Amino acid sequence: MYVCICNAITDKQIRQAADDGVSDLWQLQKELGVASNCGKCKQVAVEILGERKLHRGQSTGATKSASSV
Ligand code: FES
Repeated sequence: MYVCICNAITDKQIRQAADDGVSDLWQLQKELGVASNCGKCKQVAVEILGERKLHRGQSTGATKSASSV
């Protein structure tokens, strides 16, 4: 799904950027150009980044639990 219409950036691209280490909107703007025009996509982009961080945190926690057993 397109998140940033102005720059034709999809949720998939934002998730990939998060997986590659992008952790905040400033970095996302620098990497992909999200929210660099009208800014209407800003909130959704931040939400996707947050979801990705949360997802990664849960995955890391599960890995730690499994390895410590
Ligand atoms: S929709 Fe992203 S800058 Fe306009």
